[in-house]
Amino acid sequence: MNSAVTQTEDAGAGASAAPTAEVLGTSAAQARSAVLEELIRKDPGQFRVLTGDRPTGRLHLGHFFGTLHNRVRLQDLGVELFVVIADYQVLTDRDVADDLIRHVEELVLDYLAIGVDPARSTIFTHGAVPALNQLMLPFLSLVSVSELNRNPTVKDEISHSRQSAVSGLMFTYPVHQAADILFCKANLVPVGQDQLPHLELTRTIARRFHDRYGSGTVVFPQPEALLSSAPLLLGTDGTKMSKSRNNAITLAADVDETARLIKGAKTDSERHISYDPATRPEVSSLLLLAALCQGRTPEQVAADIGSAGAAALKKVVTESVNEYLAPIRARRAEYGQDRAHLRDVLRAGNERARAVADATLAEVRAAMNTCY
Ligand code: TRP
Repeated sequence: MNSAVTQTEDAGAGASAAPTAEVLGTSAAQARSAVLEELIRKDPGQFRVLTGDRPTGRLHLGHFFGTLHNRVRLQDLGVELFVVIADYQVLTDRDVADDLIRHVEELVLDYLAIGVDPARSTIFTHGAVPALNQLMLPFLSLVSVSELNRNPTVKDEISHSRQSAVSGLMFTYPVHQAADILFCKANLVPVGQDQLPHLELTRTIARRFHDRYGSGTVVFPQPEALLSSAPLLLGTDGTKMSKSRNNAITLAADVDETARLIKGAKTDSERHISYDPATRPEVSSLLLLAALCQGRTPEQVAADIGSAGAAALKKVVTESVNEYLAPIRARRAEYGQDRAHLRDVLRAGNERARAVADATLAEVRAAMNTCY
């Protein structure tokens, strides 16, 4: 992967907070992540990964090449994978909350289509796991209001949100996210740069829990960030690919819709196609997309096209994307026929998550001396 055009995965609302990267120790996290990758290859069985998404709609190619394929890679290497569908993180978004079940099902569909295997991995909604949510209370006792106030990602999200008031849930969601991670004692969290402050808080909570309530036994591990560099894919309008900007190619889009979206994508007026992310971001992003789908470099794709112009480039991109996504889309269509199966996958995942959370909560109660 070409590191000249990378951003960290999951770089969501917080991506614009890039200047804080050094403060948050991104380069240290990157170096540590390389070591972790080595350890994973040697002994995947010692890792448990927790990762997840907000159920806000269908996943797109930016998500896919940014984070989703990495999860399947880890699963297939033999790492135990927990995927949380963070339904409590979208309660304040009215458009989503009004039709939550459909949004949740769309996520399950996308997960199954890309190869998350419910026989090996656990897909669950945190709203269905009471003991996970109960962890929130002792965890809240371990953080100060000013610490929450300082969280750069929350600050950023609040400043970008369309809501007039900040709810308590929004303010405290990083603590809830710590519960998502710690209930299953995950020791590895694949994150983007914007999520690093949350992971740092999770580590702080794990440490303070031990100091305050530990009585010698370690209940929670100190989870580590697996920071992977992911390609920066632009949307069809040349800005960051994002559902809310209507510039995304979703995994679920059909062949014709994909062709139409790519046909309308922004390019530039130079006929010779070259890969130069700094001066030709739109053309380069299209080349990168084709390259990711073809398993080649963007330079190679550019050389194939030469002076044939933007129309030829778009034809190549469309064919590459449609070919690459064909099996994923076929699986998505197949699973989509069977809603009962989706519910079953979720029910089984929730049940498993509840068993794990109940066991953890029992340990927490014992550590806190609150077994009545
Ligand atoms: N906040 C994450 C996002 O917006 C989703 C999420 C919820 C998550 N809980 C998590 C990610 C725990 C990692 C770990 O993408």
